[in-house]
Amino acid sequence: MLSHLVSGAILCLLASASGFVPRGAPGVDESFGLYAYGESIGGLSLFYADGKAFIGDPSNSTSSSAIPVSFKRSSDSSSTEWIANPNTTTTTNTTDRWCDELLYIPSSSSSSYQMGFTSKTESNETTTGFIFYGQWVMVETGSGDISSSFYVKASTEGEGIYSLLWNVTDDDSVISISLRSVKPSNS
Ligand SMILES: *[C@@H]1O[C@H](CO)[C@@H](O)[C@H](O)[C@H]1NC(C)=O
Ligand SMILES: *[C@@H]1O[C@H](CO)[C@@H](O)[C@H](O)[C@H]1NC(C)=O
Ligand SMILES: *[C@@H]1O[C@H](CO)[C@@H](O)[C@H](O)[C@H]1NC(C)=O
Ligand SMILES: *[C@@H]1O[C@H](CO)[C@@H](O)[C@H](O)[C@H]1NC(C)=O
Ligand SMILES: *[C@@H]1O[C@H](CO)[C@@H](O)[C@H](O)[C@H]1NC(C)=O
Repeated sequence: MLSHLVSGAILCLLASASGFVPRGAPGVDESFGLYAYGESIGGLSLFYADGKAFIGDPSNSTSSSAIPVSFKRSSDSSSTEWIANPNTTTTTNTTDRWCDELLYIPSSSSSSYQMGFTSKTESNETTTGFIFYGQWVMVETGSGDISSSFYVKASTEGEGIYSLLWNVTDDDSVISISLRSVKPSNS
């Protein structure tokens, strides 16, 4: 299996080999959505349900709190936290009121792979290290490694809904994906 730890230099090589020209990452004050791309996953959007991150159409979710999410990078340029809010330009009704939650990946101390949103600091949830390479999402770990170990797994929460997972090492039913800030061209 290919290591998910990639250096900037290797990324540049990959980029030029595939003819992919990285476009700009969203600016500091620009809201952006995130979309998953992978085998049979063609740009499904990231949404919120019950504090967790899912991929798919939130209107297909069985959760009453399912809602599309828009992100902003922290205005503090030294911060690598991404601030999530409900995307209020959509009409989806939700019973769950929240704002300014931080996207997290489970820390190595967590027994979970599930990514989600939090308003408080928990040692088992890492909210820092989110960076863009062009429009591709990467995570820089404390040791300086840059990784994009994003996976999805079909969820029972509704048709075409997947859980968004991080660094899954022991489950063959997951699908490796990339997360990007660019919408699929057909939507
Ligand atoms: C918010 O939702 C609208 C409608 O689906 C979409 O066009 C827009 O890109 C979304 N905005 C963000 C920042 O995700
Ligand atoms: C959302 O749903 C709740 C309960 O079903 C309802 O009371 C409320 O009026 C709805 N809000 C909107 C904006 O549709
Ligand atoms: C972190 O710990 C809290 C409290 O025990 C728990 O509710 C939460 O699900 C945990 N998060 C992860 C990602 O393991
Ligand atoms: C949402 O559900 C409908 C049927 O219930 C299905 O046809 C559609 O493909 C689903 N949307 C996605 C994005 O999977
Ligand atoms: C992924 O998990 C393995 C062990 O399960 C751990 O050694 C490694 O540091 C993790 N990598 C990232 C990028 O979180």
